[in-house]
Amino acid sequence: MISKKIEKALNEQIQMEGDASNKYLAMSLWCDQEGMEGAAEFFLGHSEEEKFHMMKLVKYIQDADGKAIIPAFAKPKNNYKNVEDVVKTAYTSEQKVTQSIYKLVSLSLTENDHQTHNFLQWYVSEQLEEEALMRKIIDKIKLIGGGPQSLYFIDEMLSAVHKEEESGAGEEVL
Ligand code: FEO
Repeated sequence: MISKKIEKALNEQIQMEGDASNKYLAMSLWCDQEGMEGAAEFFLGHSEEEKFHMMKLVKYIQDADGKAIIPAFAKPKNNYKNVEDVVKTAYTSEQKVTQSIYKLVSLSLTENDHQTHNFLQWYVSEQLEEEALMRKIIDKIKLIGGGPQSLYFIDEMLSAVHKEEESGAGEEVL
């Protein structure tokens, strides 16, 4: 059984993961509106991943005899300057999620809740992967540069990353 303090903190994380899912969905729509189908697929995939992160928390709270609460989610940003702005926003957002997970891990230790501490380790590893992925994509976008077909190449790159992720190989293409 989890303490009320842990239950509250895990529920706040549900909000954060749900907000992340909606942010990525809005990013996917923006990319689609800009004709970048590969980028749209990439962000849609990440929206689904974040929903999975949220549901994993919901299940854990319920399994641990707590009460999971589905909150009202924040309206995501719907407009971006360019695709680099989208990826940089995603990277910043992932960094915030990482900090929130670290706080949760620290709380689980002070509460002497080893079950929750063990559960959160999956998120610690996941955040390392997600931050590394966004950083690599930002680096690739810089390499592609601002030439006349740069948007085409960025779209192709994000489509390739998405296909690798779908096949379960992670971000091997980068
Ligand atoms: Fe679930 Fe990418 O934070």
